Amino acid sequence: MSSDGVNEGRRRFLIGATSAVGAIGAVGAAVPFVQSWQPSAKARTAGAPVIADISKLEVGQRMTVEWRGQPVWILRRSPEAMSSLTKLEESLRDPASDESKQPEYAKNQARARQDRGEIVVLKGLCTHLGCSPLYRPEVAPADLGADWIGGFFCPCHGSKFDLSGRVYKSVPAPLNLEVPPYYFMSDTLIKIGEDGEAA
Ligand code: FES
Repeated sequence: MSSDGVNEGRRRFLIGATSAVGAIGAVGAAVPFVQSWQPSAKARTAGAPVIADISKLEVGQRMTVEWRGQPVWILRRSPEAMSSLTKLEESLRDPASDESKQPEYAKNQARARQDRGEIVVLKGLCTHLGCSPLYRPEVAPADLGADWIGGFFCPCHGSKFDLSGRVYKSVPAPLNLEVPPYYFMSDTLIKIGEDGEAA
């Protein structure tokens, strides 16, 4: 092969590699809202971890990445949202996450790693019948009532969850939203699907 041929091949590889890196940050915008998430069989069995770049995730924003063919939300909460978590305990079915599925390091009020408590990572599927709840960060919107201080609302049968994914009492969903394994590779990169060495 001529040296030109080699260079051409290398150029094509570099273009492909650049596109792949760019795709990491764009995942959140690329995944549209869906009420029922229906992964392909291939996606369900592919268990590879995914890396999410949260460098552009602002306070109050949620982004979505896909892991094992399912939506995973990453939410950056404000200090006000964090302090509001204590106000809800009486209204929640499992405030200490005793019955819910999460790694041990996320079994706390924030349902997050202690050193980055403002970032919560949740599987975006309702624990009732698997619809994808809506992110409703507003305070006291007309349809959710004066007591609503932000959280997730499932439009299928009306289940409600707080900003840690903890389920309210008296709704169809039996459990808090699941927290998948995850760890911070750096300040702005999260690997979802692995606990990492710090677990
Ligand atoms: S699937 Fe969410 S409330 Fe039924």
